[in-house]
Parts: sequence; structure tokens; C-alpha cells
Amino acid sequence: MFNHATVERNATVLLILGFLTVAVGGIVEIVPLFYLQNTIEKVEGMRPYTPLELVGRNIYIREGCYVCHSQMIRPFRDETERYGHYSLAAESMFDHPFQWGSKRTGPDLARVGNKYSDDWHREHLADPRSVVPESIMPGYPFLMQAELDTKYIGDHLRANQIVGVPYTDEMIATAQADMTAQASDTGEGADDLVKRYPKAQVRDFDGQPGKLTEMDALVAYLQMLGTLVDFSTFKAETESR
Ligand code: HEC
Repeated sequence: MFNHATVERNATVLLILGFLTVAVGGIVEIVPLFYLQNTIEKVEGMRPYTPLELVGRNIYIREGCYVCHSQMIRPFRDETERYGHYSLAAESMFDHPFQWGSKRTGPDLARVGNKYSDDWHREHLADPRSVVPESIMPGYPFLMQAELDTKYIGDHLRANQIVGVPYTDEMIATAQADMTAQASDTGEGADDLVKRYPKAQVRDFDGQPGKLTEMDALVAYLQMLGTLVDFSTFKAETESR
């Protein structure tokens, strides 16, 4: 009945048929997404940030580290050989906002945790050229002096809870104590902290015992990046198919 010539010579028929084709294609692609609870595959080991790591992350955002650093390893051989396993969606599911970045003036930082010592990070952040002579990264020496205020950390956790990060009311109530405990050199409160946040690293990150500074928070954050998922046991679904 409809042959090509008829359809092509009649703009209205062509438009209607074109619209129908695009609509069906769109529906087939989009509708299934409404029936999925979640498009992020759950991965063992992921947990919300500890209060101290969360504050470190805020400093990372405040200082614009993302302008030069990405946190997203793409699934290409040149990237995985340099930085490690490609990034999983689950690894940034508690990030508000995510820090994938869009430009790499410096290296990707998604798995920089445990790659260097705290000492190295302190030196590097205060004066990058003292450890990497050819570096063009700016220095952030003031982080060593800027003391942290723990007063609002509970509210910050609550705000994250509202947007879906699974912080419990207990975590919110203990946030202030947890923040101090993670950076203390006495280990006081460390057991409880690690129970709430598995794999949390507890030590005096800024090398200034008794002082809680922005350096403590930023180094704690850098040292945990990419350390939560155990890639010796992790198997991506596509790999096992
Ligand atoms: C102007 C761009 C720029 C900015 C802004 C910047 N960096 Fe860098 N960063 C670099 C470059 C370039 C390197 C590589 C040379 C070096 O190691 O210093 C680097 C290296 C690093 C490394 C070592 C990575 C590795 O695997 O060797 C870390 C960690 C780091 N930066 C953290 C930070 C943090 C945290 C901030 C924000 C406080 C920041 N950077 C801001 C450019 C930048």
C-alpha cells in the first residue's frame, strides 16, 4: 500500500512515520531504566568517607585540585598499566559531587592511596618542587597551619545522608569524635572508628601531634583513594562472561 515513493513525496506522512520510529526507539532504550532500582553494580568494600576523609575531600574541591587532576581511570591499556584497575561506577557512588575531572595537567589520582608516604605528601603539597623538581603544581604550605573546626561535621554527614549516602544516625552522632580520633597519634577511639568505617587508616597524617590541621584531612583523603575495593578478589561481570 505505502511504497517508498509515496512516503518520500508526502512530507506529513514522512514526518509522522519518522516520529514513530524515533519514539519507539527511545521508549525501548529509556523505559527499562525506570524499572531498575539502581544502575550501579554493588561492589564489596565500598563505604562512605570517614568524617576526616570527607573534610579532606572538601579541601580538595575548595583548592580546585580537580582542575589539574582527574579521578577516573578509563578502561584502556595505557591507563590501566599506569594507574591500575579502571574505575568502577561504585567507586564514586558516595561522591557529591563526583571528582572525575575533565583534564589531566597532573596524573590521575583515583588510586593514589598508599602509593607514597604521608611525609612525601606533606612535602609535595607544601612545596611540590622540593620532591619533583620539574613539577608545575602550585604549593599549599598553609595547609600545615590551618586548624580544622570539627563543629559542623555532623551536619555535613547529615546533608550527605539526605542525598542518599548511607551514614547512620550513630555515625552522625560520633562524627566529631571520629574526626579527631582518625588523626590522633595515640590511637584512642581508633577501634570504634574502624568498626564504623572498615579499612580507615588512623595516624597523625600531618606529623604534628596534638594538632588537627587541613593537612591531616587532605592527606587522609589522598591516602584512601582507590584503596577500598580489593582488586585481587574483584571480578568484573564482563570478565567472567
Ligand atoms: C596547576 C595544576 C595542578 C594543580 C592545581 C594541582 N596539581 Fe597536583 N600535580 C600536578 C602535576 C603537573 C603533577 C605531576 C608532578 C608532581 O608530582 O608534582 C601533580 C602531582 C600530584 C600528585 C602526585 C601524583 C602521582 O601519582 O605521582 C598528587 C598526590 C597531587 N598532585 C595532589 C594534588 C592536590 C591534592 C591538589 C590540590 C590541593 C593538586 N594536586 C593541585 C598539577 C597540579
